[in-house]
Amino acid sequence: MLALSKVGAPRLGLVLGSGLGRYAERLSGATRLPYSELRGFPVSTVPGHAGCLWIGRLGSVPAAVMQGRVHLYEGRSTAEVVFGVRVLAQLGIETLCVTNAAGGIRPDLEPGDLMRITDHVNLSGQNPLVGPNDDRFGPRFPDMTAAYSPELARHLDAAADSVGVRLATGVYCQFLGPSYETPAEIEMARRAGADAVGMSTVPEVIVANHMGVPVAAVSCITNRAAGLASRPLSHAEVAETAARVEHSFGNVLDAFAARLA
Ligand code: HPA
Repeated sequence: MLALSKVGAPRLGLVLGSGLGRYAERLSGATRLPYSELRGFPVSTVPGHAGCLWIGRLGSVPAAVMQGRVHLYEGRSTAEVVFGVRVLAQLGIETLCVTNAAGGIRPDLEPGDLMRITDHVNLSGQNPLVGPNDDRFGPRFPDMTAAYSPELARHLDAAADSVGVRLATGVYCQFLGPSYETPAEIEMARRAGADAVGMSTVPEVIVANHMGVPVAAVSCITNRAAGLASRPLSHAEVAETAARVEHSFGNVLDAFAARLA
């Protein structure tokens, strides 16, 4: 692929979540490939998910950036949801950084905060590894003890610190969606150990672990989760808050990429 020969094989893979897609424009020497032109790549139907693969450099690091993703709630299969991450892994990325928009459950997680994901609870009811195992990708029963790499966690924390951004930490819980959760479901998730809630990320993290690719992940807390806010949840609020943190979010990712150089 011409885009790859220009910058070299990507070392960093990045998945940009709801409202966070504009970060891709920070790549230098970039080639932008619409998913619709890439065979097999599913195209998102959600506003705020552009649907392009960008190949370029973040600082000096060759990177492949997924601007937008497809979700299980769009009716896509788990195989479609993880297709992009599997492509990035096969391109040889050494680090996957996944981002998303999430509702804050823990009281200190307020709209506009960034949270490094330390672990997850999968309440989506699905797992992308169900079915025959493809031994070329990884083992039948992959270990998920350190699904979010402790080494990359140290890099993310140091990156945030270096640009003066507070990076909280917490457990992310994925529901299937697309309806937002009920207050009772949020209370259940809280009791299960969740600090933030969303509708993505877990399948991608599972396949990256399966393929032996270390994962870092950041949630942008866009709203208080259901039952914890005074107003009803809306996608507009999610998109608005994500746009508001664009700058600090971008600075953290820039500093993170620089540490991988
Ligand atoms: N719930 C589920 N997904 C989300 C939320 C939420 O509160 N906020 C952003 N994505």
